[in-house]
Amino acid sequence: MEKTIAVVGAGLIGRAWAMVFARAGWRVRLTDHAASQLDAARAFMAASLEEQAAFGLTADPADALSRIDCVPDLEAAVAKAAWVQENLPETEAVKREVFAALDRCAAPDAVLASSTSAIPASRFTEGLPGRARCLVAHPVNPPLLVPIVELCGPPWTAPAAIARALAVYAEVGQVPIVVRRELDGFILNRLQGALLSEAMRLVGEGYVSPDDLDKTIRDGLGLRWAFLGPFATIELNAPGGVVDYCARYSDFFRRLAADPPRPDVWEGVNAARVGEALGPLLSQDEREARTRWRDRRLMALIAHKRQQPDFK
Ligand SMILES: NC(=O)c1ccc[n+]([C@@H]2O[C@H](COP(=O)([O-])OP(=O)(O)OC[C@H]3O[C@@H](n4cnc5c(N)ncnc54)[C@H](O)[C@@H]3O)[C@@H](O)[C@H]2O)c1
Repeated sequence: MEKTIAVVGAGLIGRAWAMVFARAGWRVRLTDHAASQLDAARAFMAASLEEQAAFGLTADPADALSRIDCVPDLEAAVAKAAWVQENLPETEAVKREVFAALDRCAAPDAVLASSTSAIPASRFTEGLPGRARCLVAHPVNPPLLVPIVELCGPPWTAPAAIARALAVYAEVGQVPIVVRRELDGFILNRLQGALLSEAMRLVGEGYVSPDDLDKTIRDGLGLRWAFLGPFATIELNAPGGVVDYCARYSDFFRRLAADPPRPDVWEGVNAARVGEALGPLLSQDEREARTRWRDRRLMALIAHKRQQPDFK
């Protein structure tokens, strides 16, 4: 039987989720309170699915698009959906209000997932009768090309809801991981934050130019990280694996950890330095062209990764 998802919010993230599920054969009901957003999403999805087909990421773009219905009314969109993915603006009040509505309207066995980047679900689901079926499923932009999804529930989320989420996101081609306890920034943004704070310090203290710092990731660490996580990377960097690596190199990492970047690395002067090095602010057209270029490169990389068996 065809499965149905309600995707709530048709902005950047909602329209990407709609494509992820439609590509995988789900029926999608995409809803937004702004009719203009639904129109813009439909045009964007039509073009994006065609482009994805050119990279072999979806077999039949017209068929995928035909599975997506734009439904202006939230209640109608959510009724009978087996899964709900919420993608409204990132404020606690908005999340609290929409989750109360979703819990009232959704079928009793539907799971309610939020794409929130940083608001733990305990802050907007505590008082709901159906709070056991609520969780965060945090994607990375754009989820149709970057498959990681961080699953994180408050203490009252039913283990069965997390288990279903693991199965559903894997089935539609994503890579779900479980964040075992709620914490600020989940996992991905804590890792990104650690790297960016150090990058701001290195640039701020004049050790390296912003451009050379970008090269260090793009043509250095990032190349391996497309295939191996940081632990799997260091496993290969010493003959005796991770334990040997730590024995050889941890003195340096200990010194570094004892002297972390301070919050003031985020103050305007460093941001201005990086901004200046990146050149004049892109026009809207240039920004869109650069985003499309990024997405095409990601499509090629994802297509390549899908053809490679994992090394086990
Ligand atoms: N943009 C990112 O990089 C990114 C990455 C991961 C997670 N997220 C999270 O995803 C969520 C959505 O972010 P986005 O970037 O797609 O935002 P966005 O501003 O692009 O989209 C939000 C959409 O919600 C609609 N909306 C607002 N209030 C509404 C309401 N009451 N009812 C129906 N529709 C309503 C708006 O019209 C808009 O289309 C946020 O929680 C954000 O933190 C964003």
